[in-house]
Amino acid sequence: MGRAHRESYGGEMSTAASMVFYCLVFIAEILMFGVLSLVLFWVVHYRGGFAWREDVKLEFNYHPVLMITGFIFCMGHAMLVYRLFRCCNKLTAKILHTFLYLLAVPCIVVSTIAVFDSHNLRDPPIPNLYSLHSWLGVITIGLFGLQLVVGFFSFWLLLCCEHGTAKFRAGLVPVHATFGIVTFMLAIATAVTGYTEKALFTLKDPETQKSTYSELGNEAIVINTQAAALAALGILLPVMVAVRPFRRRWSERLTEHL
Ligand code: HEM
Repeated sequence: MGRAHRESYGGEMSTAASMVFYCLVFIAEILMFGVLSLVLFWVVHYRGGFAWREDVKLEFNYHPVLMITGFIFCMGHAMLVYRLFRCCNKLTAKILHTFLYLLAVPCIVVSTIAVFDSHNLRDPPIPNLYSLHSWLGVITIGLFGLQLVVGFFSFWLLLCCEHGTAKFRAGLVPVHATFGIVTFMLAIATAVTGYTEKALFTLKDPETQKSTYSELGNEAIVINTQAAALAALGILLPVMVAVRPFRRRWSERLTEHL
């Protein structure tokens, strides 16, 4: 690891690029904290809060909250680490990036258990994996798992033989970054279909059982706002990660230590 990790990585941005970048950071943070607060507010205020297996209807509520926490909040911040912490060395950024990724794992696992329970423990049970949303969900979770395994293997385990694997690891960086963006976008598409489904399932007139979604009541606005914030994040984060002027400029020598 040596000297390269002790040195600062802070490739400079132009003043104009810096101003645009930090404006985008500000908006992205509002959106990420906003959508997390709003999903919590929604399930607590409108959907009865949380319970575990004693009330599977309420157990479902862990699903949107923890999926948003894992896939949007943790993964979104993990994606931004290398752009945000320009003053720290590469190793610190890498540890933080891995930590945020790992933090998403229990959220995704518990959220998946909760949603399967909410189907399997119903009386009568609801079939699993029939919807478009659930298919997208399986692909998203699969891609996330693959990213985690490949990332851990290539950027941590292969450090055992740092010099011998440097080229291979450097070659994997753009692949890992691209798949990260793809997984994040897919998570957004999955979450948006989940919100639509939930709105169509639950926003109903209690007497006639007719959908009231089209009346755009308060709960519908809260649901749509979350999905709109996710769409905005789906534009913003890939731009912040992929646009060249926002990237750090690595020296040849430092790139060897990726
Ligand atoms: C991005 C993260 C998400 C992933 C990966 C995901 C994944 C899944 C999966 C795999 C299922 C199938 C469970 C089964 O068949 O037993 C499911 C069900 C469900 N999810 Fe999500 N979900 C996500 C976010 C959301 C959000 C934000 C909502 C909003 C409320 C939501 C609402 C639902 C609903 C209503 C179901 C039950 C109906 C169905 O199976 O389609 N999901 N989800």
